[in-house]
Amino acid sequence: MDTNDITAENKRYVIFPWSKQGQVSPLAVTRMEGVHFWDADGNRYLDFAAQHVCVNAGHQHPKIVAAIKEQAARLCYAAPSFATEPRGRLARMIAEVAPGDLNKTYFTCGGAESNDYAVKIAKMVTGRPKVIARHRSYHGASSAAIALTGEARRAHMEPAMLGVLHAFPPYCYRCSFGQEPETCHRECVSAIEEMIEFENPDFVAAIVVETITGTHLGVPVPPDDYLPRLRALCDKYGILLIADEILMGWGRTGKWFAVDHYGVVPNIMTISKGVNNASVPLGGVVVSDRIAEFMETHTLWSGSTYSGHALGCAAAIATLGVYHEEGLVENSARLGVVLAERFADMKRRHPSVGDVRSIGLVGTIELVRNRTSREALGPRGDDDPLAPLRAAIRAGGVHTSLWGNYISLGPALNITDEQFQEGLDVIDNALDLADEHVDATSSNAAAV
Ligand SMILES: Cc1ncc(COP(=O)(O)O)c(C=O)c1O
Repeated sequence: MDTNDITAENKRYVIFPWSKQGQVSPLAVTRMEGVHFWDADGNRYLDFAAQHVCVNAGHQHPKIVAAIKEQAARLCYAAPSFATEPRGRLARMIAEVAPGDLNKTYFTCGGAESNDYAVKIAKMVTGRPKVIARHRSYHGASSAAIALTGEARRAHMEPAMLGVLHAFPPYCYRCSFGQEPETCHRECVSAIEEMIEFENPDFVAAIVVETITGTHLGVPVPPDDYLPRLRALCDKYGILLIADEILMGWGRTGKWFAVDHYGVVPNIMTISKGVNNASVPLGGVVVSDRIAEFMETHTLWSGSTYSGHALGCAAAIATLGVYHEEGLVENSARLGVVLAERFADMKRRHPSVGDVRSIGLVGTIELVRNRTSREALGPRGDDDPLAPLRAAIRAGGVHTSLWGNYISLGPALNITDEQFQEGLDVIDNALDLADEHVDATSSNAAAV
């Protein structure tokens, strides 16, 4: 099949997510390997986003592919009520790397479902009905996960699950409380405490956070004491802390889990994506010993056919092996230093770069028209000033996450130094096109 045939068949029969179907124009991809993929016309792309920031060990990793094949030949599926070797072994391996006393896992088929279960479990354990989530967050598209999600897409599902409140997150470049880092008193934490008090602490089951918010929302890395302060709030009011590590877990930030940067152990941690290199749908809800103990004598009134699917678990066992053997977490930390340096250099040289944020191998460049006013570099009327920049990145053979005025990246954790620099060079050069739109009143317009 050529490009046209593949695309035509997809457009005729497949419903694509988050889109008006009449407007989708999907790229037909036919091959993926390592940090690259190819379209049906043979063009090669450097996958600087690891698809949805999930193929952490690179495409078609031979050990993961072999493990899936081997498991498929032996046992594809056993109902969740049975004990299987891959299910038990994987849960043990997760407990070995998960922080603190997070030692037991309920398996799901993906991220949204994991967050659904995390909330169910929190409500079950606390007997409380409400949950605090945050604006500027994404937790998935299922009915409960979209209710937790704090961005405009939720509006289309309203009224969503009742009892979810949204607090403002720490987004220090554009603080919701009008502060700058030097004047900040962590108003974003005090506001959550106020919310808890007004909502009645006895009715709040959990605070749900992406430990660090993901790429399409700009990777706003929180101040170091933010998560410890949330932990303390939760402890004060008997509220459970749920950390969504679906995107930021599994070495993405240079540690096994993003919470490890802050010395915080959540009560519940949700995982997916990098757990098995996104090779087979799999997610999980990892709970603390205390919650596990509670569940010894209380029924989990929920389940699903594919929970702990043998193929997904076997793929995850192989993936965790690759993390250990190839030092992927360490490589992420090491290249994270390179990324921070390159980002700082781009900010110095390109006046359109308002802010850069990164941690490990994930980061965002935030583009502005004006560094003084911080006006986002976005459309004025029908004119989309970033279209040429996006085209230049694509023409440079790089696939990455381009949302609004953000250029975000999150490549496979085993990308080589050369491949990494090559991708950053393409982005760096494309920024010249954004610089053309900087206002003359910007504090650094002279640098244009
Ligand atoms: C932080 C976070 N949570 C949850 C999800 C939802 O995961 P899924 O798409 O597997 O349902 C995503 C997906 O991108 C995510 O980034």
